[in-house]
Amino acid sequence: AGPCDIYSSGNTPCVAAHSTTRALYSAYFGALYQVKRGSDGATTTIAPLLPGGVANAAIQDIFCANTTCLITIIYDQSGHGNHLTQAPPGAFSGPDSNGYDNLADAFGAPVTLDGQKAYGVFISPGTGYRNNAATGIATGDAAEGMYAVLDGTHYNDACCFDYGNAETSSTDTGNGHMEAIYFGDCTVWGTGSGSGPWIMADLENGLFSGLSPSNNAGDPSLSHRFVTAIVKGEPDQWAIRGGNAASGSLSTYYSGLRPNVSGYNPMSKEGAIILGIGGDNSNGAQGTFYEGVMTSGYPSDAIENLVQANIAAAKYATTSYTSGPALSVGSTISIRATADTTRYIVHNGSTVNTQSISSSSTRPLKRQASWIVRTGLANSACFSFESVDTPGSFIRQSNFELLLNANDGTKQFYEDATYCTLAGLNREDNLIRSWSYPTRYFRHYDNLLRVASNGGVHTFDTTASFNDDVSWVIGIGFA
Ligand code: AHR
Ligand code: AHR
Repeated sequence: AGPCDIYSSGNTPCVAAHSTTRALYSAYFGALYQVKRGSDGATTTIAPLLPGGVANAAIQDIFCANTTCLITIIYDQSGHGNHLTQAPPGAFSGPDSNGYDNLADAFGAPVTLDGQKAYGVFISPGTGYRNNAATGIATGDAAEGMYAVLDGTHYNDACCFDYGNAETSSTDTGNGHMEAIYFGDCTVWGTGSGSGPWIMADLENGLFSGLSPSNNAGDPSLSHRFVTAIVKGEPDQWAIRGGNAASGSLSTYYSGLRPNVSGYNPMSKEGAIILGIGGDNSNGAQGTFYEGVMTSGYPSDAIENLVQANIAAAKYATTSYTSGPALSVGSTISIRATADTTRYIVHNGSTVNTQSISSSSTRPLKRQASWIVRTGLANSACFSFESVDTPGSFIRQSNFELLLNANDGTKQFYEDATYCTLAGLNREDNLIRSWSYPTRYFRHYDNLLRVASNGGVHTFDTTASFNDDVSWVIGIGFA
């Protein structure tokens, strides 16, 4: 059985079922998600390998070979047609054209399920999906449940990495107009114990961990790589549950009355669906979503425990984030542009650009063009690049510009300085992809270094010569 077969057996059927990694019903053999490629804008659909099975990720690999791909649609498997697509502007605008949020890169969150490759939905700040015309989702004070499987190591403190029920207008229409899973370490509203990240409920104008709007010491900080997060609500009652999605059972972090502030009892749910954003299209948060559902009716703990067993049996595990020519940690490298075979990545103070370097260049310039490969500061599956002549300083991004800055020890710096190397798009060379913004790659544009996407709102995102501009040959360092 799949998770939604289990919910059906408890008379709390799925009314939305989203996953880019697997079928959530044992008989489901339809579309899981759609990707669009950068080379020609064509789309294709990814379905399970077998009814009830893992996504046929090889189709994506073939379709997207030698170009980039975005996830354009996450299909609803429940039959209600509650598909998720690029979120439109709301009270807040997104960074893409016409105020839409960005789409997720199709390769940002590789995993395996029982050894088979699949891809999750990697939400960078500014990325979001939504359905404001969903059908069958709870409204008013009606009962519902939901779970999501998330990356417990990918989060931030901005508003709001959510999955669940939100406003149909993409605006804040008041307390109790949302009921969604939240994951992260935002401390603006409620908190749990420790410093986070926590599973909380976004009920609009507040992230709630329990009865008190400020803190529930029973809601723990989580450190599992794969997290199962549960929120459910019915008249006068709601709960937060969670656990390790890769093994073991669920714990209940809160179960009881609605928060003791006005506006949340009764609830005024509206029945739209959001992923990666807040109800009003707040879009500063980040996180990774693998699968999730929303139900009609309040699922019993016993049914959810069976769903957790099903998730654990799917055997989520990590896999490599890199491909192409291998890098060894501790080695000193040079990084040469492929379009002009004399230009290398160099820093001048904090500026990172390309300059011509030859054997007759000065020793200081050669050292400015040499980089020590370090284990990725934010993810050990990727890399960070430390300057040879300025120890302790790394190539990092800021507003999508690459800079050389001293490591300040913050989580933001670690993320801004972490890059995954991949096989080149058009020859035997390397791409250097941002871990935290996986649509973005090291690109030289007017000889300045950017992290650019293949098409987008910035001039340096232009699709013209993208494949050449993001292709690099990594060689032995000069010094
Ligand atoms: O409830 C927290 C956030 O507050 C909601 O997601 C958003 O709509 C509002 O800004
Ligand atoms: O480069 C994009 C973002 O811009 C970085 O993550 C952040 O440091 C800056 O705000």
